[in-house]
Amino acid sequence: MNVLLIGSGGRENALAWKISQSPLLGKLFIAPGNAGTINFGENVNLNTKNFLDIKGFVLNNNIDLVFVGPEQPLVDGIHDFFLADNELYKIPVIGPVKAGAILEGSKDFAKQFMQKYHIPTARYKTFTRETLSDGFTFLEKLKAPYVLKADGLAAGKGVIILNDLNEAKEALNEMLNGQFGQASSKVVIEEFLKGIELSVFVITDGKTYKILPEAKDYKRIGEGDTGLNTGGMGAVSPVTFADNAFMKKVENMVIIPTIEGLKKEGIHYKGFIFLGLIKVDSEPYVIEYNVRLGDPETEVVIPRIKSDFLDLLSHVANETLNNANFEVDIRATSTVMLVSGGYPGNYANGKIIRNLDLAKNSLLFHAGTKSEDSNTVTNGGRVISITSYGANIFDAVQISLKNAEIIDFEGKYYRKDIGFDLK
Ligand code: AMP
Ligand code: GLY
Repeated sequence: MNVLLIGSGGRENALAWKISQSPLLGKLFIAPGNAGTINFGENVNLNTKNFLDIKGFVLNNNIDLVFVGPEQPLVDGIHDFFLADNELYKIPVIGPVKAGAILEGSKDFAKQFMQKYHIPTARYKTFTRETLSDGFTFLEKLKAPYVLKADGLAAGKGVIILNDLNEAKEALNEMLNGQFGQASSKVVIEEFLKGIELSVFVITDGKTYKILPEAKDYKRIGEGDTGLNTGGMGAVSPVTFADNAFMKKVENMVIIPTIEGLKKEGIHYKGFIFLGLIKVDSEPYVIEYNVRLGDPETEVVIPRIKSDFLDLLSHVANETLNNANFEVDIRATSTVMLVSGGYPGNYANGKIIRNLDLAKNSLLFHAGTKSEDSNTVTNGGRVISITSYGANIFDAVQISLKNAEIIDFEGKYYRKDIGFDLK
């Protein structure tokens, strides 16, 4: 099978690494990829916003399966585009159609869906500019902290949590007045949930599902979970507090009603569902749905899948997921993200990355890198995700940290406390 993988981050590097191990693979192409993905396939310089360009490439290269890494092309309807095209409709796309991608593309839709199917989530109400004063009244009724969410995609910046009521009202006003453009023309205000978060990925063929190993990511730039939010500074799998009893609750209270709800809505969902969960006392609540795999969680979850991943994807495409072999590695994994100095604010690109060949016993998943002359240089805020196996997550983190010290570039920064809260 020839595969086209869309995306360019650490997530796609981990996927390329895994897919390249499949005996079913013919050629793997990554669009656009990075300096890490070239070790596992051919990078192609496609404008992935232009579905006609993708069509041309898919037909010219006899692509048999398209895997969509990020959410934007899904929300923009790439899967629908394939289904509607005479020459493409038989070529499977892993990732939901638009009607499914809206679970991530609209927080208001996701909340309505959860309410309709009795999936535990924070209580909420949605407001527009016309109902601003109702929004103020709703905020007055809630207790601090106040959680405000732009309805649409806002590059991970659309959630604002504030302690002060007046600041929350001001934030609501600004959001509804275009702070995030069209994405905040509706704002979801919800109750704050106090607990500990984790990520659970589910794969479905629209009929049945499999649950991937759970993970926890570390979003803040600073140690001890302090400072600004980032795309993710590291992750671990498994998550110690997600014991069997808790994961059974997740399956029964969240996963099954989600899959059944999608069916009842007539949404034929083929791909991954990312559940952003929070454990409050011993109960799971959904913070958000994403319609793709998480980054950097993928860099710890995919290495824990022992079975053939391309075979699994073929079963999704053929709607035979029930018969797929799905085995999980009992070893723990960690990933530590090396980032550019200044990130998540301004940072410089083009710094030469040294000592990549000296790193031992870890998988190096490139996030923001590119090849320049004979060097690998930084090309993003998140640069390299260093993944390691261990008997437990703490052993695994130690190996990643050793290599985080060895690999070097000007301005390098990383968190040394990944997994700290699980001790
Ligand atoms: P994201 O949607 O990934 O930008 O991140 C939103 C983050 O805000 C989550 O990871 C949580 O840490 C936090 N958050 C979102 N909704 C709630 C809520 N209802 N209660 C508490 N924290 C929340
Ligand atoms: N790590 C969280 C995300 O991918 O959204």
